[in-house]
Amino acid sequence: MTSSNQRVAVVTGGAQGIGRRTAELLAGRGFRIAIIDLREPDETVHAIESRGGVAFGFAGNVADEAVVERFARLVFDRWGGVNVLVNNAGISLICPAEETTASDYRRVIEVNLVAPFLLAKAFGRRMFEARSGSIVNVASVAGLIAVADRAAYNASKHGLIGLTRTLAAEWGGRGVRVNAVCPGWVKTEMDAADQAGGSYSDADITGRVPMGRFASPDDVARAIAFLADDEESGFVNGHTLSVDGGWVSDGSWESVRLRKR
Ligand SMILES: NC(=O)c1ccc[n+]([C@@H]2O[C@H](COP(=O)([O-])OP(=O)(O)OC[C@H]3O[C@@H](n4cnc5c(N)ncnc54)[C@H](O)[C@@H]3O)[C@@H](O)[C@H]2O)c1
Repeated sequence: MTSSNQRVAVVTGGAQGIGRRTAELLAGRGFRIAIIDLREPDETVHAIESRGGVAFGFAGNVADEAVVERFARLVFDRWGGVNVLVNNAGISLICPAEETTASDYRRVIEVNLVAPFLLAKAFGRRMFEARSGSIVNVASVAGLIAVADRAAYNASKHGLIGLTRTLAAEWGGRGVRVNAVCPGWVKTEMDAADQAGGSYSDADITGRVPMGRFASPDDVARAIAFLADDEESGFVNGHTLSVDGGWVSDGSWESVRLRKR
């Protein structure tokens, strides 16, 4: 357990987007925050500290096992334990399946599926010792249904949901809950980069979502915070929580969905 009463949350990919908002929200709820990202997450750390929170950042690749082990040691040396792990870091790849190279496919699987496994092992061990912990994996609607031109991404997110259920089954009896959130389209730098490639527009997304808008990073962060917190979701284990405005539930055709807008 941690060296003080303040709980510890690890957030991957916390330099921007959903990860940044999640780190800030959890800090506001009293967690000390450790962030790992490819780039130094200085802005997130400063934002948390300026509101009286406690955070530290680490620059590293979550797909590199030695880096993950080093990061975990730093967190344990500093704070003695961990209560929450949010596996949020991820990358997108929009490309027809037949044009996706094996190396691009492997790169997406490494970051989106292998890395959460490495992080879960590194931090899960400490959670077993405390017989308490919560892991939240950030999957996607693309982990529940297929979206064309995203073979690697869809496969990685479907796999992440499979990993979530497996770890929930193996670790629930040792006090560690493992759940996933499945966001729909979220307004982040990832969406800006994907749209810059020309494959979809805002109207494509808002027309497809029953609630008629994108998710905000805050919508997703609040769902993550719910699953992270034992007091809020203490008997929820192995669940995938869609945060998609109804995207996955809606089998309507477009004219039906749009006629009452
Ligand atoms: N934006 C969306 O529409 C959307 C929808 C569903 C799911 N998601 C998922 O939510 C998560 C966060 O997405 P976002 O929109 O905030 O993305 P983003 O691109 O805005 O931010 C991702 C962060 O992860 C970091 N990162 C990427 N690869 C890394 C690596 N190998 N090691 C360490 N850090 C790494 C990036 O530097 C960045 O700071 C991802 O897993 C993504 O797949 C996003």
